[in-house]
Amino acid sequence: MTTLARVTESPLVQVATEAERRPGTIKLCYGESDLPTPAFIVHAANEAALAGHTQYTHTAGAPELRAAIGAKVHELQGVELRGTEVICTVGGTMAIYLAIRAFVGAGDNALIISPAYAIYANAAVMAGGEARHVPLAADGNRFVLDIERLTRAIDARTRMIVVNSPSNPTGWMITEAEQGALVDLAARHDLIILSDEVYERLVFDTDIAPSLARFAERGTRDRVIIVNSFSKTYNMTGWRLGWAQASERTVRLMYAAAEFITSNPTAMVQQAGIVALRDGEASVRRLRAHLAARRDQVRTVLGTLPGATLAEPQGAFYAFLRIDGLTSSASLASRLVSEAGVALAPGSAFGPGGEGYLRLCFAASDATLGEALVRLQPHLKC
Ligand SMILES: Cc1ncc(COP(=O)(O)O)c(C=O)c1O
Repeated sequence: MTTLARVTESPLVQVATEAERRPGTIKLCYGESDLPTPAFIVHAANEAALAGHTQYTHTAGAPELRAAIGAKVHELQGVELRGTEVICTVGGTMAIYLAIRAFVGAGDNALIISPAYAIYANAAVMAGGEARHVPLAADGNRFVLDIERLTRAIDARTRMIVVNSPSNPTGWMITEAEQGALVDLAARHDLIILSDEVYERLVFDTDIAPSLARFAERGTRDRVIIVNSFSKTYNMTGWRLGWAQASERTVRLMYAAAEFITSNPTAMVQQAGIVALRDGEASVRRLRAHLAARRDQVRTVLGTLPGATLAEPQGAFYAFLRIDGLTSSASLASRLVSEAGVALAPGSAFGPGGEGYLRLCFAASDATLGEALVRLQPHLKC
């Protein structure tokens, strides 16, 4: 059996397929906003294509984009990052795949702080390794890092810890103290940390999420790989542009492999990315305000449902709802499509720790979200 044959289809696909079959279903099961890419970014891509950005670039991305990402990281996190410490990729997805592929081999394992986006486990499996889900602990309606549980899950074949904050699906945001504990643990056991920070800018009670970049000074940078993306920050999911920050050595390892998988991300999209970074701050602020209002709208309804607990969404754009006594989130999600006309993601799509939960993506318009909540309420009441 090849490693690809061990990749499992997400339970989310079934719900999405049922939703496609029923016109009028409100689809809050996917992880993207329903807003279009801001026009100034679209114009920048058009202009770049007309100006001749239509050929291959360096596999790791155009030097001016890599430098622009370094400058943005410095502006936002106060950390020095050279262009050569950045690889631009076909979405954050490719950066995650390359990072896992680079450090997890046959017989190795990666610890995945869960519930988590399914990509990490599948990438570890595709690399011939094992994915070990290590659940966050619950503290009231918040999640917290369970460092003891992580420590217990480490063995001689553990190569990597994967953490995603702000988190899809939980909305959890790691604290700086938790980051420090994670970095110490990785140093003690000689592990790589893969930190997926694609929702870094989409946070509600602060301007930006704490980044592990602050712990990855040159020297320890070999241990920490940070993944980020244009997809969520600039409503650019379909453009497929992301990046990883790491040591030059790790970046070279990653682009040597990328050369034979995707080569560079699309040339004119990279130019549009430079403009997004340069001129996008007002649009990021507007998006954050829009999402904060949607979060409040969801909290008002789902935060008070009897028999359910809404995890506090601190960042990203998901409401992660635990339903007391729920044993099959996939069956409930399927029933909600047929009976309520709303598609949500079953918690089981995010690893064993996600069973018993539903995930609602609230990156929708006020009206769409309002209608979905009205439809859902009678079906979720215990
Ligand atoms: C946590 C997380 N990481 C990475 C990605 C991938 O994003 P991209 O569109 O940049 O490949 C997603 C997309 O949903 C995500 O939720």
